[in-house]
Amino acid sequence: MPALPIPELKSIVLIPAAGSGRRMGAATSKQYLQLLGKPLLAHTIALFDQHPLVEAIYPIVLADDREYCQREILDRYQFKCVRRLIAGGKERQDSVRNGLAALIEDGYDQPRRPVLIHDGARPLFNADLLAALMDSIDTSGACIIAVPAKDTIKQVIQGQIVSSPPRDQLWQAQTPQGFHFDILNKAVHQQISSAVPATDDAAMVAAAGYPVQVLAGEDRNIKITTPGDLLIATALLDSYKEKSA
Ligand code: CTP
Ligand code: MG
Repeated sequence: MPALPIPELKSIVLIPAAGSGRRMGAATSKQYLQLLGKPLLAHTIALFDQHPLVEAIYPIVLADDREYCQREILDRYQFKCVRRLIAGGKERQDSVRNGLAALIEDGYDQPRRPVLIHDGARPLFNADLLAALMDSIDTSGACIIAVPAKDTIKQVIQGQIVSSPPRDQLWQAQTPQGFHFDILNKAVHQQISSAVPATDDAAMVAAAGYPVQVLAGEDRNIKITTPGDLLIATALLDSYKEKSA
């Protein structure tokens, strides 16, 4: 495969990790749970740290967790690209908005600056896909990683199927999701005036009228949501460690 061109501007990575992990039901927020002896969020940050296409990383955490995250993750693992911690907001989109405000403060607001948003709870993304993702953002302004749905998906209301959309058109959105700064910024501002919360950043950008490209990702890039996901992630991480040993 020919090498992809290096974009003019390296990417800034926002890592929203300010959720409460309600579905995990653990005493500690899921982003701080240990996976093979390392906090989940540290695994996620490490995916991007020192990647040649990454300029800066901003983890977004609950204001009350800032001190803990600084001590247990940033001080301990000494990442090279983490600029600073940002305080998250009530909904995920509020957390992303706070991240965007930090980019403006720090001068990363060039219109074509690629901004990647990656869930803190996805420690298994294969960073080898970043070059192709960045290339698509460079040409289209908006691109996400997704995988084709394997199961048939039903729309269900009050326990009853109301539609069965054709499976070959259904994809499961993952992260990273990447956008030119100006596109994301406009979408975030349009979202503020909307009553309907967007379930992901791509939905917000698409609702603002921008086409969003999709790049095929990998099934391994699961979002850690329930205790069962932790078991799967541990097994996957273990198997990659064995392969690279
Ligand atoms: N997130 C965030 N700010 C919020 C809500 C979520 O930064 N107000 C982050 C989470 O920390 C997570 C990512 O967005 O890394 C995806 O959200 P999700 O998996 O839903 O995590 P939680 O909201 O923590 O989990 P739950 O919905 O089970 O409470
Ligand atoms: Mg949530």
